[in-house]
Amino acid sequence: MLPDQPVPKAPIQRCAWNEGLSDGTRFRVRAARATDERAVHELLYAISRESAYQRYFSVRASHPRSEVLAFLDTDPRSCALVAERSSDSTIIGIARYDLDAASGMGELGIIVRDDYRHRGVGTALIHRLLEVGLAHEMKGLRAEVLVGNAGMMALLRRFGPLEVSSADAGVHSVDLLIEGRSRLPRSAA
Ligand SMILES: CC(C)(COP(=O)(O)OP(=O)(O)OC[C@H]1O[C@@H](n2cnc3c(N)ncnc32)[C@H](O)[C@@H]1OP(=O)(O)O)[C@@H](O)C(=O)NCCC(=O)NCCS
Repeated sequence: MLPDQPVPKAPIQRCAWNEGLSDGTRFRVRAARATDERAVHELLYAISRESAYQRYFSVRASHPRSEVLAFLDTDPRSCALVAERSSDSTIIGIARYDLDAASGMGELGIIVRDDYRHRGVGTALIHRLLEVGLAHEMKGLRAEVLVGNAGMMALLRRFGPLEVSSADAGVHSVDLLIEGRSRLPRSAA
């Protein structure tokens, strides 16, 4: 693989979308690249303990390289996106789905930097993941969401009705189905 080869593979690799925060600041959502390793690592160390807990369901004192490489993994059935500030390319959010072949659902992970919350970054990342997934016959996104993570539930609800499992060990499995849809709603931006 070339050092700056984007993931996942064609036709997603050249994807990039210009977006705007609610205050007008410009940012880009684009396919993650192997060369994002350091910036993604920095993002993981920049997020609060609470955010890390909401994402990983455990307190994390460190984020090993393997975690970053897993995010940047080049499996062609997956899609990894980053949101980067247009002015200086700082990464302010990351999102990825891994397609579960049996269910056709994309298993979602997303983190937005704490100081960029409530400004539309999460909405933009999910919107673009869904667009990519829709083009690749993904049936929907599935997220493991900690009970009480109102932010994540509200974010997913923006894109349609959810199927929410009863909580197991404090975690809901939440399905957002897109199969058969020709358009994706997007209530923010
Ligand atoms: C969940 C998360 C990705 C949302 O990202 P975001 O960039 O703030 O999302 P948006 O700005 O696009 O917000 C979309 C809507 O979600 C809702 N929302 C977002 N965060 C919220 C919170 N903490 N509490 C309540 N509602 C929230 C709001 O309705 C918001 O719209 P509004 O701010 O215009 O009212 C972000 O809070 C995060 O990274 N959390 C930690 C990691 C995590 O929980 N991941 C989910 C498990 S994979």
